[in-house]
Amino acid sequence: MLKLTSIRHKLILFSLSIIIIVMIVVSFAVYYWLKHYYLHQQEEILVRSGNFAADFLSGHDIGEMREVQLVSLARSISQQNQLPTRMMIIDSDKQVLGDSSRIDSKIGETLNREEIRTALRGEASRAVQYSEEAESWVMQVAIPLYGGATGDFFSVDGVIFLSASLHEVYAILGDIRMLLFWSTVAAMMLAIGASFFWAGRLTEPLKTLNLAAQKMAEGELEQKVEIPEKDEIGRLANQFNIMADRLNYMTRNLKAFAANVSHELRTPLTTLSLLIKSLKEHDMEREQQKEFLDDLDQQTDRLINLVNDLLELTKLEHINIKEKGKHFSLRNILLELIEQMSPWFERGGINFHYDIPLSVLMISGSPGQIRQVFYNLLDNALKYTPEGGEVKLNAREDENNVTVEVKDSGKGIPANERKFIFERFYRMDHSRSRDEGGMGLGLAISKEIIEVHGGEIILSTEEGKGSVFKVILPKVTISKYQLKSES
Ligand SMILES: Nc1ncnc2c1ncn2[C@@H]1O[C@H](COP(=O)(O)OP(=O)(O)OP(=O)(O)O)[C@@H](O)[C@H]1O
Ligand SMILES: [Mg+2]
Repeated sequence: MLKLTSIRHKLILFSLSIIIIVMIVVSFAVYYWLKHYYLHQQEEILVRSGNFAADFLSGHDIGEMREVQLVSLARSISQQNQLPTRMMIIDSDKQVLGDSSRIDSKIGETLNREEIRTALRGEASRAVQYSEEAESWVMQVAIPLYGGATGDFFSVDGVIFLSASLHEVYAILGDIRMLLFWSTVAAMMLAIGASFFWAGRLTEPLKTLNLAAQKMAEGELEQKVEIPEKDEIGRLANQFNIMADRLNYMTRNLKAFAANVSHELRTPLTTLSLLIKSLKEHDMEREQQKEFLDDLDQQTDRLINLVNDLLELTKLEHINIKEKGKHFSLRNILLELIEQMSPWFERGGINFHYDIPLSVLMISGSPGQIRQVFYNLLDNALKYTPEGGEVKLNAREDENNVTVEVKDSGKGIPANERKFIFERFYRMDHSRSRDEGGMGLGLAISKEIIEVHGGEIILSTEEGKGSVFKVILPKVTISKYQLKSES
């Protein structure tokens, strides 16, 4: 029994069943049509000879005719047929008066057959039956022989009885049957062969894919399948490669992130531990103690920031809906940030400008999260712009949106890095960012926050010339009615 767990077996079974059904139906139809056609043709030949004999004898009283005349008539007519035909002339008492067959002539015998009785009633009749004598199928035709008219009717004086062997017809039909059988077998072989071939072509790439997927499941993530076909399987393979690449990339990043987190945590923790030990073991001046405590404070802040960033990320996965409807002024948030960060730009030797309109720039959502976004963007601008560079923050509004741009004259972001920049843990320049405490989380967090707020963040940058991060947020329009009721 075929187990239907492979495409090859299914394909074979499917094509075989179709071929078997079609061939059986077609074979039966062809066979029965041909059989009918041949028998009909045979019958016509016999009826024509019979009618010819009947015409010849019409007007004669066969009872009065001599036996030799009838026999020679029967013989000459049956010889005209291409088929070996036997003709008998029978009178109304069913007695044979003339017989074309010499060998077992039935002259003088009475033939009490159904067809003859029917013909004597005035109806021509036909029968096909197996004859033991002839050892083959035979067709028999009986045709009434009309004598003189009695009143309005012609009386049936006798019967012309013809019989012909169907040996040849059945031999032809047998040949046709064999032909149909063997063509069915050939078609089935062909179907099996074709199914094997096609199933092979279909399943080979699937096997490759399967193997690659299996290896991936076992942990070998670096998989690539090469399938040249451009069909659905080819597209699947392509998609598989993209998926594998992505998974690979994400896993690598996750590992890098875990390493980074450990490293980031270990440095401040080791420092903390050293500071505490020193404080404990050495007697120090008050002044020195304060210095140590300041260091302690700085390191704990760094730790808290890191942990906060990580927390922020996990929190974002469950959007805080409670804060979604809260209205607040983006202008105020931007001004606060400018106040806080301006000194840092100054210290870094970066020229910092801003251009904020006087309107409130009302938006809705979480003020804390929105503040975080612009903090991250300005922080990046600060970190990735060299001394002497320029950073510009400007905001504007139109009917529906508030748009804020953070523009810097830094090193820009190369085209091949742009699609990764917003991914978690992604940092372009690993060694450099780590020194500066960058975790590659800032932009990922920002993008998620902006999307949660129904906005979008767009990067346009030119390598070597700087970058512009444009944030578009839906504006809250306060209706006149609301303004009145509030006042
Ligand atoms: N304004 C910019 N100019 C040039 N490169 C930038 C800029 N902003 C971001 N990048 C690049 O994109 C990377 C990802 O930025 P992101 O803010 O997500 O992480 P980070 O600044 O490295 O770390 P974190 O923000 O978590 O402290 C950065 O490492 C940096 O390489
Ligand atoms: Mg950053």
